[in-house]
Amino acid sequence: MIVNEYVKQFEKHGFGMFVHFGIYSVHGKGEWAKHTLAIPDEEYDKALKEFCPKADWAKELVATAKAAGCKYITLTTRHHDGFSLYDTLGLNDYDAPHSACGRDLVREFVDACNAEGIVPFFYHTLLDWREESYRTDFKKYLAYLRRSIEILCTQYGKIGGLWFDGMWEKPDEDWEEDALYGLIRKYQPEAMIINNTGLSALGALGHIELDSVTFERGNPSPINLADSPKYIASEMCEIFADHWGYAARDFNYKSLAQMIRELCLCRRYGSNMLLNVGPMANGELRLLDKAMLRTLGEWVALHEEALRLPRPCGIEVQGDRDDFLLQNGAEYYLFRHNLPMAADPNVAIGDSKGYQTEFRMPEKIRSMTWLDDGSAVKFTQDGDKVTVYSEPFRYGGSLVVRIAKIST
Ligand code: GLC
Repeated sequence: MIVNEYVKQFEKHGFGMFVHFGIYSVHGKGEWAKHTLAIPDEEYDKALKEFCPKADWAKELVATAKAAGCKYITLTTRHHDGFSLYDTLGLNDYDAPHSACGRDLVREFVDACNAEGIVPFFYHTLLDWREESYRTDFKKYLAYLRRSIEILCTQYGKIGGLWFDGMWEKPDEDWEEDALYGLIRKYQPEAMIINNTGLSALGALGHIELDSVTFERGNPSPINLADSPKYIASEMCEIFADHWGYAARDFNYKSLAQMIRELCLCRRYGSNMLLNVGPMANGELRLLDKAMLRTLGEWVALHEEALRLPRPCGIEVQGDRDDFLLQNGAEYYLFRHNLPMAADPNVAIGDSKGYQTEFRMPEKIRSMTWLDDGSAVKFTQDGDKVTVYSEPFRYGGSLVVRIAKIST
């Protein structure tokens, strides 16, 4: 089996940020607004005259991602509406340099990422509501698409990868994938190539050049590489509410606790989590997005060492079906879920009994400590049978998922 080092490196990132940003952010009704709400071109394109992200938008975004514990950011360089955040170098004038801001926003994004050691990834649409050739002359469209990708691969230095989306709209067309991916391999041999299979084909393997499968919205699962000639990563993208692009009236936010659980669930199956934000037209995030990310980052910081290098190890954990173990060499990490908070019955609804988990481990365990505070975890080891006794959270903290580090 072929194993590419850059794929292993990608898995070590563990957690990345997805950013949906474009002139749809001006409309504030999600990235599908033009199509779904049937907004005529003249109306939709009025946003071009207003699209002017503030000077520091990229720096702020990168700082927010970093504080959240993200190691890479995947930015929509062009979405389905056909508008590009990068300078298309004359391919068309439907790009950021021709909008009100008059700047190459991909350049600003890449510079901000590089300054902070965050790896830039480029999302790029495959389907196109704007480019006429997409409907009338598909071969011509593919040439246009490839030239667009060539620009992205040659103008911005080394990038982490390309993330394609929209092939599912013309499943029977020949997308000339060999040529598209070949172009990336030529200029960016170590870039991850990802092609979203969407909600309808979660985790499906595709073209041999693809380096990761995709999952969406809370549903990662183990992938079967038994018949695969090469090693492939997996990634699950997730949204806070119901839209990827900014939607001012989307209040349907998931909880922080759910995001913590989903990040852990991704790691359980060796997947990365790509958590989305949709900045407003000025490039800033909604207050709630910022707060969620900042607070999630505090949880990530407490459990950092369990979230990057450790991988699934196949040991079954019994007691709570959400619990699992990851391994990094002689170190194991036990992810404990569903612990209540214990306190005076007048302030907490948890109880104070212990919660038992069991698994089998032939290696002799030397120590077991909670990652968040370094305190010892109660356990017994009888032959290879390990029993872990977890206390409820003590009043003063409630971590959602608590991780024990096991040294053998
Ligand atoms: C879907 C949507 C698209 C979004 C993507 C993110 O493919 O069409 O708007 O960018 O999911 O995964």
